[in-house]
Amino acid sequence: MRKWLISSCMVAVLMVFGMQGALAAPAGDKPNIRIIATGGTIAGSAASDTATTGYKAGALGIDTLINAVPELKNYANVSGEQLCSIDSKDMTNAIWLQLAKRINALLSQDDVDGIVITHGTDTLEETAYFLNLTVKSDKPVVLVGAMRPATAISADGPMNLLNAVRVASSKAAVGKGVLVAMNDEINGARDVTKTNTTTVSTFKAPELGFLGYINDGVPEFYRESTRKHTRQTEFNVNHMDALPYVKIIYGHADDDGLFVEAAIKAGVKGIVYAGTGNGSIHKNAEAALAKAAAQGIVVVRSSRVGNGTVIPAEQSYIDEHFLDGDSLNPQKARILLQLALTKTNDFAEIQQMFKIY
Ligand code: SIN
Repeated sequence: MRKWLISSCMVAVLMVFGMQGALAAPAGDKPNIRIIATGGTIAGSAASDTATTGYKAGALGIDTLINAVPELKNYANVSGEQLCSIDSKDMTNAIWLQLAKRINALLSQDDVDGIVITHGTDTLEETAYFLNLTVKSDKPVVLVGAMRPATAISADGPMNLLNAVRVASSKAAVGKGVLVAMNDEINGARDVTKTNTTTVSTFKAPELGFLGYINDGVPEFYRESTRKHTRQTEFNVNHMDALPYVKIIYGHADDDGLFVEAAIKAGVKGIVYAGTGNGSIHKNAEAALAKAAAQGIVVVRSSRVGNGTVIPAEQSYIDEHFLDGDSLNPQKARILLQLALTKTNDFAEIQQMFKIY
């Protein structure tokens, strides 16, 4: 009797955890997850197992990464493809477009249930936000990277990859927008940022918070972003070959406006100014930016501070038609402005997009 009780308790526990994706599902019930590899430290190879710098990012192919984690097959029918093999500092608009189109094509298939993207951590947050605005599906899309190369002692990549597949396989991740799974935490694409140059706990959503944990292999969500994403956005890049030219200019003491003048000459369509404080702009740069806006170049005030929102401040900024970047950091404000410019040049319409995305 006692034996039966124990085993029925175990069955109940198995059922609860099984529903949440913690334990291996029967073969036929497993979701089909495609892993798209782009390079980065998660695929990095160093000369020694103690080296965590000076390695080659993106050296290992997707098959090597998948074969290193045989446990993946307990959670999903996993297949891989190599989109590119880059250090993510070299990410381009062209690769973003290729990636978004590929994901949209894959997710339109009934036999693909979710996507994991292996990516370098340096620009991971940018790719995540670009996809958050351009993927046209509710199916899970999860980015993952690593801070230690695959050859290092205690490499973080294998567990991060397993957790990313667990999140992509989880019904709880459906409709949450593009996610980042690293270091046992799940972050939303809009608010996540790299906060530390070297530690494995680098990805955070300062102030607004991460969305959930991966608790002993089980993805658990506690919150979600209220900003529109994926199928809810007006952006569709499926037929695009290029994105509008938008530059970020970093504000600092004694700014003489030189880079704003250079950007105007180069023919930019938009400028994100990473201002001081609440998107404040040195008077010299402000004069140059006012000239840009008068020519129809869309100027968005962002902030170099890293936390908080950029909201209306000086009357002159309103008069000069500078837009407010809300809580997006400069690199994400650039992405939203690029996509906004594929729809309109109207200052008011673009300002509204910064309120909803
Ligand atoms: C990269 O971003 O590709 C290199 C750094 C990293 O992945 O941590």
